[in-house]
Amino acid sequence: MKFLLALTALAALPLSSLCALENWSGRSVYVAYPGKSSAKKPPKNPQTILLLTDIFGHLSPPAQALANKISKSGNFLVVMPDLFNGDPIPFPPPATGLDPAWIAQHTEPLVDPRITEVVNNINKKYKPRSIGGSGYCFGGKYVFRALAKGEVSVIFSAHPGLLSLEEIQAGAGKGPIQFALADEDPAFGTAARIDAEAVLRNSSMPWTSTVYDGPGAGIAHGFAVRPTVPGEKYSEWALNKATDDAVSWFKLWLN
Ligand SMILES: *[C@@H]1O[C@H](CO)[C@@H](O)[C@H](O)[C@H]1NC(C)=O
Ligand SMILES: *[C@@H]1O[C@H](CO)[C@@H](O)[C@H](O)[C@H]1NC(C)=O
Repeated sequence: MKFLLALTALAALPLSSLCALENWSGRSVYVAYPGKSSAKKPPKNPQTILLLTDIFGHLSPPAQALANKISKSGNFLVVMPDLFNGDPIPFPPPATGLDPAWIAQHTEPLVDPRITEVVNNINKKYKPRSIGGSGYCFGGKYVFRALAKGEVSVIFSAHPGLLSLEEIQAGAGKGPIQFALADEDPAFGTAARIDAEAVLRNSSMPWTSTVYDGPGAGIAHGFAVRPTVPGEKYSEWALNKATDDAVSWFKLWLN
């Protein structure tokens, strides 16, 4: 517990040489570097993870802790861009729901090009050996869209939000897919999961889907970024398990 708190606190402190906030063509991007590499000493042809965040964005401490952990445990270059042009939702979100004006600023026709621009920059800067996509909630939809376009070759999608069956169909068969889902998630519940799995079962690529559930409130939407109940053992286990599963999926399938 103390260790976890320390990690979270670390992510919010001034950045070490292992991670940096950078400005890529006017876009703020959080980069976690593998091994002894850094912005000044870039890794050569790294296996790269494009981390697509939830609505709280790339500056939120849990997202940065996640990027650091994925980079460290997989020896990956992790690139986590600002998907919202400086306009993330502050945590916790308003109980009244998201403002329609905010939603209108972050729809597919606006967000897709932001991601394509970042992928182009990754390719230019690092000539990566391969790129995987790790997406959470809002980002859990966009990793499917990136997979369908061949921008990434392997994905992990945790508790996706606004992910349609058409988007799953477009990504299915394009690369290995892993889901990490909360059973009673209003954003992606049991019916959505069963439909998604039918599509994946039909595809020619490896896939896996892990569901987290439990008595009472169990494990809730968002669990793979923030523990459902901080400090509670099952919530902390689910967060760590989902992160470890993402890393081992990328180690298994990325070239
Ligand atoms: C990136 O740098 C440009 C040019 O110096 C600056 O105008 C812009 O505000 C910066 N953007 C971010 C997100 O830091
Ligand atoms: C599975 O594939 C068959 C043949 O391509 C297709 O007709 C069917 O609709 C697919 N089912 C799902 C659930 O995608």
